[in-house]
Amino acid sequence: MAILLNQETKVFTLQTKTSAYQMKVADYGVLLHLYYGRRIGDCDLSYLIQRTDRGFCGNPYEMQQDRTFSLDYFPQEYSCFGIGDYRTDCVKVINGDGSCAVDYRYRSHRILEGKYALEGLPALFAGEGQGETLVIEMEDQCTGMKLELYYGILEEADVITRAAKIINGGEKTVLLKRAMSMCLDFNTDGMDWVHFYGKHTMERELERNRLHHGRQSVGSERGTSSHQHNPFVILCDPSCTEETGECYGAGLIYSGSFLAEAEVDQFHQTRLVMGISPDQFSWMLNPGESFQTPEVALIYSGEGFTPLSHKFHRMASEHLIRGQWAKKRRPILINNWEATYFNFNGEKLLNIAREAKELGIEMLVLDDGWFGKRDSDYSGLGDWTVNEKKLGGSLKELAEKVNALGMKFGLWVEPEMISEDSNLYRSHPDWTMRIPGRPGNVARSQFVLDFSRPEVVDGIQEMIFKILDEVNIEYVKWDFNRSISNYFSTALPVNRQGEIGYRYMLGLYRFLENLVTRYPHILLEGCSGGGGRFDFGMLYYSPQIWCSDDTDAVERLKIQYGTSFGYPISAVGSHVSASPNHQTGRKTPLETRGTVAMAGSFGYELDLRCLSPEEKEIVRHQIQEYKQHYDLIHEGDYYRLTDPYGDCRGVAWAFVSQDKAECLLCAVLTRLQANPDGVIVKLKGLNPGKRYRAGDKVYTGEALMYGGFLLPLPREEYQSWRFYLKAEE
Ligand code: GLA
Repeated sequence: MAILLNQETKVFTLQTKTSAYQMKVADYGVLLHLYYGRRIGDCDLSYLIQRTDRGFCGNPYEMQQDRTFSLDYFPQEYSCFGIGDYRTDCVKVINGDGSCAVDYRYRSHRILEGKYALEGLPALFAGEGQGETLVIEMEDQCTGMKLELYYGILEEADVITRAAKIINGGEKTVLLKRAMSMCLDFNTDGMDWVHFYGKHTMERELERNRLHHGRQSVGSERGTSSHQHNPFVILCDPSCTEETGECYGAGLIYSGSFLAEAEVDQFHQTRLVMGISPDQFSWMLNPGESFQTPEVALIYSGEGFTPLSHKFHRMASEHLIRGQWAKKRRPILINNWEATYFNFNGEKLLNIAREAKELGIEMLVLDDGWFGKRDSDYSGLGDWTVNEKKLGGSLKELAEKVNALGMKFGLWVEPEMISEDSNLYRSHPDWTMRIPGRPGNVARSQFVLDFSRPEVVDGIQEMIFKILDEVNIEYVKWDFNRSISNYFSTALPVNRQGEIGYRYMLGLYRFLENLVTRYPHILLEGCSGGGGRFDFGMLYYSPQIWCSDDTDAVERLKIQYGTSFGYPISAVGSHVSASPNHQTGRKTPLETRGTVAMAGSFGYELDLRCLSPEEKEIVRHQIQEYKQHYDLIHEGDYYRLTDPYGDCRGVAWAFVSQDKAECLLCAVLTRLQANPDGVIVKLKGLNPGKRYRAGDKVYTGEALMYGGFLLPLPREEYQSWRFYLKAEE
């Protein structure tokens, strides 16, 4: 049983394989959070709460003379604004009478078989017997406002999910100002929080800070999860390392504006809340209506970051990524973007495809520039009609020619955007997200379409589906190349303008759901100027996401390192590009670009016609090697072996198969030295008692893990190696 309920103490204990989560219905129905961490059985941990009369800490009226019960410092499951809990909160409303308080108390609960789903929103799923659901029903007895707290328990996967549904059970309209997905209280301070910040072409850089008193947050107001911050954070012991210490990962399964906020309070306790960003948000709840928050996935590890990451990777692979491409081997692709940019025609593309086929590449992806008036990024978005003049024929013909070479054909689209210089803009200017009377804000010379309007989504969907119906397209790269600003919808009344961001996401998710249902054979790759929408929400629809527009192998070491904390290798779109690199100008060996790109869903993005015969031989070899190790890379456990932020001379990582029989060790030297030091990498996750062969050398697992592996001396800058280690029978 994953859900234990002690009827007498009214304590709920949710148990996964290694963790437990506990809450209690306390006096007058106040729902207290008691514990999250290593398994503890069903012992009621409310004895850990210091009940005392604390200055300036009010008490619910029902407590009368008892001053030892206070929402000001008691740990909560879903903290409400306006009733004496002054810490960062989950829910804020404006009631029909103008007051701002909501006071949710326990009413009842339901335990359901299986893991709940959320209508219109991405959420984890569980196979038969893999999940359970607890729904706690709460109510504010003054206004009739109701709340359902959803807890999903994936016992084997060690995951607990949370989501909330706010229901107006009263008689007056209520304005919802804030509706977070969850609140997680800890009775300690001094925790570190690890978060992933960045910018376009440098996403998910790891930052680790000690939490200080007061509130600190990361988030996005950009309408996407963003390059700047990621909706995945970790709270941990200050001493937590890859292998030791307690840590808690929280991943929001949502792709729009978000907030992750931590607060250390006056009594040295810590709270984390996570959910939709409240800044651009409000929602009119008429009597009988409800609002559903997105889901948060929580994982605890008592043994450091490595197991935490492995669990998040498994969670994404087994309980989030859907469809046939979740497990099927993904084709190695050539994308023409960095090879040609907008400057291509049908013949040029076919020549690239021929060259690619000859090297073992399996799919040509036609990127931006194939439609409307789109020879630059100043025009054409919204006109999803094929530029047959440029292609020298129809798209169907081009795809057929690519197929005739024995390759699959994939296509780039950016359905959520509109260029001012487009027929769509001329015929439907009102489809643009723009505040009437304001010139607005353009980015990459484009505007965002108002996807909060169902007819706009339907209109674009019709155009895109027409192409997908006519042409044999087996892969779609779905891009989004600006941040949203100037939120406004001509279709919503004045008092509903705060609903646009969330309605936009519902529109986007509906489109994506229609796409994956109608074309289950299509492999979808998410993208937003690289990794600007790299989140668990998108992974529900697109099994992989273009990790960054920065294809420089050396910069990618950090980007992919940060990404690996929450997201699986299979989700990381990564390509070998030209040298000097187009973003940084850095020169790196082709072998190294291959080594780095292989830590993901692999492809090429350069003009293969410019490669020398020797380079082509290297590419051929990389492709064979990637195919050979595909299962190890995609299904194995990924180990970070070095910290790219430390003073290291190299960066190393390894893939270890589940049965520990195989290992692929990868390393890139990042600093050349005269008279060089020896560089030793300690492996992880091997079977200590087994003997592993690498070429003509044999090592024991324990020697490799505790002694280490000595890298060869480098011969050139940014040299890299891949060593395949196989356990002997
Ligand atoms: C974005 C993507 C690139 C490419 C261009 C095309 O920047 O991240 O990979 O598709 O758009 O305009």
